[in-house]
Amino acid sequence: MTSPSPFRFVYCLRCPLPVLPWLSECVGQLSGIQAPIRQTGSQSMATCWSKMNKSSSILKRSSLLGQSIPWQPIKMGAPLSARASSWWSGVEMGPPDPILGVSEAFKKDTNPLKMNLGVGAYRDDQGKPFVLPSVREAERIIAQKGLNKEYAPIGGEPEFGRLSANLAFGQGNEIVSSGRNVSVQTISGTGALRVGATYLAKWFPGNKTVYLPRPSWGNHTPIFKQSGMNVDGYRYYDPTTCGFDFNGAMEDISRIPEKSVIMLHACAHNPTGVDPKDEQWKEMSQLVKKRNLFAFFDMAYQGFASGDVDRDAFAVRQFLEDGHNICLSQSYAKNMGLYGERVGAFTVVCKDKEEAARVNSQIKILIRPMYSNPPVNGSRIVSEILTNTALNKQWLEDVKGMADRIITMRQELKDGLANEGSSKNWEHIVDQIGMFCFTGMTPEQVEKITTEFSVYMTKDGRISVAGISSSNVGYLAKAMHAVTK
Ligand SMILES: Cc1ncc(COP(=O)(O)O)c(C=O)c1O
Repeated sequence: MTSPSPFRFVYCLRCPLPVLPWLSECVGQLSGIQAPIRQTGSQSMATCWSKMNKSSSILKRSSLLGQSIPWQPIKMGAPLSARASSWWSGVEMGPPDPILGVSEAFKKDTNPLKMNLGVGAYRDDQGKPFVLPSVREAERIIAQKGLNKEYAPIGGEPEFGRLSANLAFGQGNEIVSSGRNVSVQTISGTGALRVGATYLAKWFPGNKTVYLPRPSWGNHTPIFKQSGMNVDGYRYYDPTTCGFDFNGAMEDISRIPEKSVIMLHACAHNPTGVDPKDEQWKEMSQLVKKRNLFAFFDMAYQGFASGDVDRDAFAVRQFLEDGHNICLSQSYAKNMGLYGERVGAFTVVCKDKEEAARVNSQIKILIRPMYSNPPVNGSRIVSEILTNTALNKQWLEDVKGMADRIITMRQELKDGLANEGSSKNWEHIVDQIGMFCFTGMTPEQVEKITTEFSVYMTKDGRISVAGISSSNVGYLAKAMHAVTK
């Protein structure tokens, strides 16, 4: 090795610190530098250090840790003391995601009877992820078309937006035909909420506070807060009945300051599985109007609740009929099983076409610096399913099949608890709807069912009914009875 100048460093891009290329040869003389390197506590640095001590040849062409590591010579190295700390040493460890934490614990459990009821993804009766036959067929058709991979427009393909709005509002609706909706493709339902929240934070003319049902989907609060909105709530779930607290909701909504935003789950409320009845929706719509509130509907489960996409859109359509100009987030994750494709839509219903054009221009201005434009694959699948008559029919059957399996599991769980001899009222298991069931189990009971029966769920007692199958529903009933009697 040629003798380098004492201030030439090699900078390892895996590690926060520079290292000296002649280290193995002069480590004795330069032993003073070991301390700052060791002080970092960085595992990758420690690995670099030990490997470097073994051979200086790795510095010529490094294959450190079996990977090709880029090395960058820098002209004049800063004094080591200045380089000894990381940019990120002040970053605190954040709490793990509560739902993903459940999955992690589940994975480690060796009990063959273990059940993961934490995750909100549909499973078939064998407990396997399910790709809808209609989606498989759409993929085949799309592959045959040999389409290119060009960018989509900022708001996705206009046709996709139109199809999504029609799915929500009903075929032949006046809003889409008069062109007074803005409907953009988003990164699934989360992206729709995020675009919507960002739009409201910038352009909503009233009180920039969104009122969420209590409880609501865990991601609603961070989405709105991080977008610059304030978050408050209204009563929704009644723990004494495990049902909808209609009176509480009406009382709270009547006190929401005028010109605020109210978030409504269109159907299959997450996490409770509790939906208002049609008559209750009608009354809520009148009250929301009287209070001059702006309704933001989150529809992540259209078709997944009742098995009928039109039935599940009742609340949205009722509000529109009552003259609310709502906004709406949609997700195709659950009803088309397109979880990982990340395809959804955000819609704003405007006064007229001219207003829609202005709103659309501003939404595009918000999307452009966020992710430029949405991915094309998922929206092609959705568009194929929504436009191809045979495929559409197949899809409606697929959705119904999933919803029906969930409804059957609810009934079997309730019956199983009765067979075990439970004297508790488990009626809410069948009254609730959609993927989730708020069992009413306490955090202590959840803890017990996990440690004693390897049944995993979130601390609030929510179970994903989609994770139950005919082969384990009996075991679950037994476990639930054991910890709740
Ligand atoms: C109420 C609600 N809204 C939105 C979403 C968004 O899901 P995704 O981003 O996967 O479409 C979910 C998913 O669990 C949800 O439950």
